[in-house]
Amino acid sequence: MSDYGTRDHWDEVHDAVADTDHQSAIAANAVVGHMVALVNATLNARTAATSHGARRAVLLDVGAGHGVLARALAGPDRLVIASDIAAAPLAAAGRRHGDIGDRPTPRGLAADVLHPALKPGSVDVATCLRGLWTLPDPAAALAAMAGLLKPDGRLLVQLWAEAARCRLIGTGAALLGKALPSLTRPAGVPSPFDITPAMLADMAAPAGLALDRVETGETAVRVTDAASYWREFDAVAETAAAARKQAPAALRARIDAALPGVLGRVLSRDPTLPPDHDGWLAPIAWSLCVLAPIRTG
Ligand SMILES: C[S@@+](CC[C@H](N)C(=O)[O-])C[C@H]1O[C@@H](n2cnc3c(N)ncnc32)[C@H](O)[C@@H]1O
Repeated sequence: MSDYGTRDHWDEVHDAVADTDHQSAIAANAVVGHMVALVNATLNARTAATSHGARRAVLLDVGAGHGVLARALAGPDRLVIASDIAAAPLAAAGRRHGDIGDRPTPRGLAADVLHPALKPGSVDVATCLRGLWTLPDPAAALAAMAGLLKPDGRLLVQLWAEAARCRLIGTGAALLGKALPSLTRPAGVPSPFDITPAMLADMAAPAGLALDRVETGETAVRVTDAASYWREFDAVAETAAAARKQAPAALRARIDAALPGVLGRVLSRDPTLPPDHDGWLAPIAWSLCVLAPIRTG
């Protein structure tokens, strides 16, 4: 696989992990649903406070991947732009037009977050879902996103909670990390659990953004075997998912055979299941952080 974080890396990940992998994933959809609710509440609060009601809001999803969030945000009162360094997922987002009936399709924008190719001060709400820690320079990315916001715009950044509350990701990642050396994180690349809301606030301050609001969410999904576990895992950990899918079949089979034992050791048993059924609860928890431009003068 190409060097982590390059455009080639993400093209390969998106090739390996199809958009359809996200559709039946309960945990990934829970985070998207929470994000959509918070974007809608943010837009409604601004509409109530200002005279913006009549014009179409401009929403920008940065690092949009296959466009799961951008499609969920689409609506007649908004222009939704799905932006990503990798171009292929944006085409996939467009192809799925039929799935959302009359709702407008998000516009695709193939661009590096550091060079967004949009007018400064043109965006009402920017979103970054499962993306900040994947970017080579998160602080510079925050500054670039801040520059795109209108003076009363908002940036919504999703972060995972600490690793102990995100065993849905950590359990599979640890197992895959032992089996697949390509998954060793390069020095200096943050783990998905490294950035807290307080650290985000510190990182965003030089970009002229202040933390306005934090909402937290959590869920625990029932997994009963390797297939049900990877279905949930793949939709929230694409780089690891892609490496597993590209591994030789014999190695994949060994990983799958080891997985139930690991799940049994690390996760709580689902107490609602009869004693003769295997099933565990894989927790995942997140923060949604709303950043607002700091008013000067
Ligand atoms: C973990 S994926 C998340 C995708 C999507 N937000 C989701 O939740 O399904 C991270 C995304 O960030 C994109 N990305 C990585 N580096 C980027 C950069 N420098 N500029 C723009 N997008 C980037 C990747 O191509 C990938 O689609």
